[in-house]
Amino acid sequence: MSNVHLIDHPLVQHKLTLMRRKDASTNTFRRLLNELSSLMAYEVTRDMAMQEIEIETPLETMRSNVIDGKKLVFVSILRAGNGILEGMLNIVPGARVGHVGLYRDPKTLVAVEYYFKMPSEMHERDIIVVDPMLATGNSASAAVERLKELNPKSIKFVCLLTCPEGIATMQKEHPDVPIYTAAIDRQLNEHGYILPGLGDAGDRIFGTK
Ligand code: URA
Repeated sequence: MSNVHLIDHPLVQHKLTLMRRKDASTNTFRRLLNELSSLMAYEVTRDMAMQEIEIETPLETMRSNVIDGKKLVFVSILRAGNGILEGMLNIVPGARVGHVGLYRDPKTLVAVEYYFKMPSEMHERDIIVVDPMLATGNSASAAVERLKELNPKSIKFVCLLTCPEGIATMQKEHPDVPIYTAAIDRQLNEHGYILPGLGDAGDRIFGTK
């Protein structure tokens, strides 16, 4: 599991525990997700390339670091991925945002794309794909497959929770894509939900249940 990064910061773990509780309200769940997403953005951008530029302080000229290259792109896998965007954009306000919509064909179980909108010049950008739950890994893998057609500089995947099955899918199909997660849970159930998990992330974010 060399490319799986478990974010074990106490603040991340604490907030995740509060989110898992079934009695957390929509409001609480969303607020915690925002806070947690900001902390995860901090971790996943840790190795971004820097460039030294010359600036003037009120006292002197100096050389100092800024982030190098074109603005990075957060790609949300609809719809639950949208719940992660706000927290990440609080930390990287200049980032661009793309969206991928996929549904699972009920007969073939293959992920079918219904929406794909990305910023320009993706071949010059680093991509961070976001989805709270990496469960079967089928949507994540299909989204990454599609993004690779645009030949980006790099792709990383960020989720709150995953499980051995989701990791296995990604490692088989995209071993080059690092996974950042706050927890690796026990297993999937027969409906594709992560156990013990936190339930349906989209419903909990948007209050649709
Ligand atoms: N998607 C969810 O929202 N929850 C799960 O447990 C698995 C997939």
